[in-house]
Amino acid sequence: MTTESGKNIIIFDTTLRDGEQSPGVSLNMEEKLQIGKQLEKLGVDVLEAGFPVASPGDFEGVKKLADELRGLQVAALARANPKDIDVAWEAIKNGANPRIHTFLATSDIHLKHKLRKTREEALEMARNAVAYAARYTGNVEFSAEDASRSDLDYLCRVFETVIEAGARVVNFPDTVGYALPWDFGRMIQYVRANTSNIHKAVLSVHCHNDLGLATANVLNAIQNGAEQVECTINGIGERAGNTSLEEVVMAIKTRHDLLPFTNNINTRFITATSRLVSLLTGMVVQPNKAIVGANAFAHESGIHQDGVLKERTTYEIMDPADIGLTKGALVMGKHSGRHAMKAKLEELGYNLTEEDVDRVFARFKALADKKKEIYTEDLETLIADEILRIPDRYRLTYLHVAAGSGIKPTATVSMEIDGEEKTTVSLGAGPVDAAFNAISQLTQTGSKLLKFSVNSVTGGLDAQGEVTVRIEEDGVVVTGQGADSDIITASAKAYINALNRLGHKKSDKATAKPMCC
Ligand code: KIV
Ligand code: ZN
Repeated sequence: MTTESGKNIIIFDTTLRDGEQSPGVSLNMEEKLQIGKQLEKLGVDVLEAGFPVASPGDFEGVKKLADELRGLQVAALARANPKDIDVAWEAIKNGANPRIHTFLATSDIHLKHKLRKTREEALEMARNAVAYAARYTGNVEFSAEDASRSDLDYLCRVFETVIEAGARVVNFPDTVGYALPWDFGRMIQYVRANTSNIHKAVLSVHCHNDLGLATANVLNAIQNGAEQVECTINGIGERAGNTSLEEVVMAIKTRHDLLPFTNNINTRFITATSRLVSLLTGMVVQPNKAIVGANAFAHESGIHQDGVLKERTTYEIMDPADIGLTKGALVMGKHSGRHAMKAKLEELGYNLTEEDVDRVFARFKALADKKKEIYTEDLETLIADEILRIPDRYRLTYLHVAAGSGIKPTATVSMEIDGEEKTTVSLGAGPVDAAFNAISQLTQTGSKLLKFSVNSVTGGLDAQGEVTVRIEEDGVVVTGQGADSDIITASAKAYINALNRLGHKKSDKATAKPMCC
């Protein structure tokens, strides 16, 4: 094992690229910027903002982040060809130390079946791509897609070649989540030992979670000489997702005795970041998810509760405050003023404009009329629902539902559609169905509802409900979310949010280039 004590691990976040490749996730530019700002606050070193050549929406999103974020490096993904690299550079060129991240598969499976190239041809492509990218910037990363199923001697030759051509970071992805921790560590050690010029580059890892081993693989990799970790918030990403940032960072913090590394993450922003990503992507965090799941610090058994009350460390290996978890903490009541609320927002890491504070305060007052106690989670939900949701094509302006035993559920819905107010009345099997039917009628959508779930933001009968819906139209799948103390209203908002996203995604898809690696 080659553990180098005190070494700083570079945190490369790909929530907005690999994470956005999760089924049903599509973020608009404003949402990407909100997440980008939060990741900057969290302290990530490199933020992969997207795949600019994939669609005009992706290009604009990456450009916006590169133009606006100054406290981190913004990276853009590009296949190993000049067109992709040109477009990637065009998107990030105004960034602070922007990075071109180009990739090519190196496993025989991918070379034979996907790329239909020989090893020598692929080696040449990789060299040319990196040399081409290096004409734009010295900050070039090369990823050997499917590295963990590649012949390691060939892979070392590829890394040697691209480093010689100008790559400053070489990334070893476990693209299909196939690796096992001890073997992954061995592979990283092998690459370090057998790539003659590896000292001129940063060795990075990028793990997928198909066998639930992404975090374990990454920890083994850094113990064996990996210096950069590619990860996502809440572990979102293709299929079973990527390595979860919060798991790696908290493992390093909690087991510093065996993982003596440093990083630049301010762990106190983990909870707020996790929540923001979940709200904006619609990817609900499973309750038993490590670090950020709703149950991660919940103690059900009496023996455990008793132990924690006597001494927290009996059953808690991490201090919830270290991840910024103030769950259950009463933040404000009905009589709290705007000043107290603004101070609380700043404490939570939100620096809103005066106008946005006014909007959140108005929502807070309305909520406080219905709900006795307002918790941190309530405020975060309000912010996400009110501020982070940009004005869109469809907006709910009125909802009235009549339901109960012996009544046919009926919904009256008014919506602003392209600035014009429209109203309709609809029946349904239940109150939510009636509201959805009215919305479908007004928007004339042909979408199919794939998923509907309700989650309570806090405990208590007066808790706000957070609704997630997933819909599909013409093969395009999107997720929407809505929150309100009335779950029918939350459901209607979630459905409308999904329809707005569907519109964005369909128009972006219509102009997107066909994707192939
Ligand atoms: O999983 C993977 O191989 C990737 C690369 C593009 C880095 O996402
Ligand atoms: Zn990946």
